Amino acid sequence: MKKIQEDFVIAQYQSGIENYAAFTREVGLWASEEHVFHKYLKASDHILDLGCGTGRTTFSLFDLGYTSIIGVDLTPEMIAAAEQIKAERDSNLTFQVGNAKALSFANAVFDVVIFSFNGLMSIPDSAERFKAVQEIYRVLKEDGLFIFTTHDREQDENYFNFWREEKARWEKGVQSQELYEFGDIIATSKNEERPIFIHIPNQKEVQDFLERGGFSILETFYRNEKFEESVQVKEKSGECRFWVARKNS
Ligand SMILES: C[S@@+](CC[C@H](N)C(=O)[O-])C[C@H]1O[C@@H](n2cnc3c(N)ncnc32)[C@H](O)[C@@H]1O
Repeated sequence: MKKIQEDFVIAQYQSGIENYAAFTREVGLWASEEHVFHKYLKASDHILDLGCGTGRTTFSLFDLGYTSIIGVDLTPEMIAAAEQIKAERDSNLTFQVGNAKALSFANAVFDVVIFSFNGLMSIPDSAERFKAVQEIYRVLKEDGLFIFTTHDREQDENYFNFWREEKARWEKGVQSQELYEFGDIIATSKNEERPIFIHIPNQKEVQDFLERGGFSILETFYRNEKFEESVQVKEKSGECRFWVARKNS
């Protein structure tokens, strides 16, 4: 059986455009995101909002005064929806279709790269995800920040049994042949109509990934340990871990 490819990921997001657009129009930033962005971003920072979707974080950050920001996303329909919202808001933000694994920007141009709402982990195959980390490193200035979220398979006790059983399947080689590595799942989601692919790492895996990619971790925390999000945010997004990392000089 063929392994999951990027076209599967694009199709999953195409099936969720309306939900993401509603999240952008009606909800905006999560309390946790607002806290992290205020803590680490300066108003003058040049920011790349990678995997920006329909611009939820892009428009919100702009409204908070972080005006040097550009949104990039793999799914053309996400960018089309962001452009529609931009027209409604009479905004002059820039959105572009682009792939985190091969960015169109020069070296060392951004102070901050954001990959919000677990988008990095929707890239199939850890070697391909690592290409995205290397690209993010490349476009960041010295000491630039990479801020993103992931799920954490060692945090949610509702799934401990599932992961134990899945581990046994991988050890016996009877896991779904569409998957690349332990932690990958094809599942239903709150936002997409189609099944989604996502990799659910543990903390050590992301730490190793960042260190190998030339980053130092400044902060990581599990969202519900620090923040009580609104009902709307909890309805649309599962719990996740925040990561704030700095490009090593
Ligand atoms: C869960 S959505 C989050 C969208 C938006 N950041 C938000 O918070 O509403 C993840 C986004 O990552 C994008 N994405 C996935 N792989 C990508 C890649 N390789 N390069 C750029 N964007 C990607 C998807 O198209 C999708 O819009």
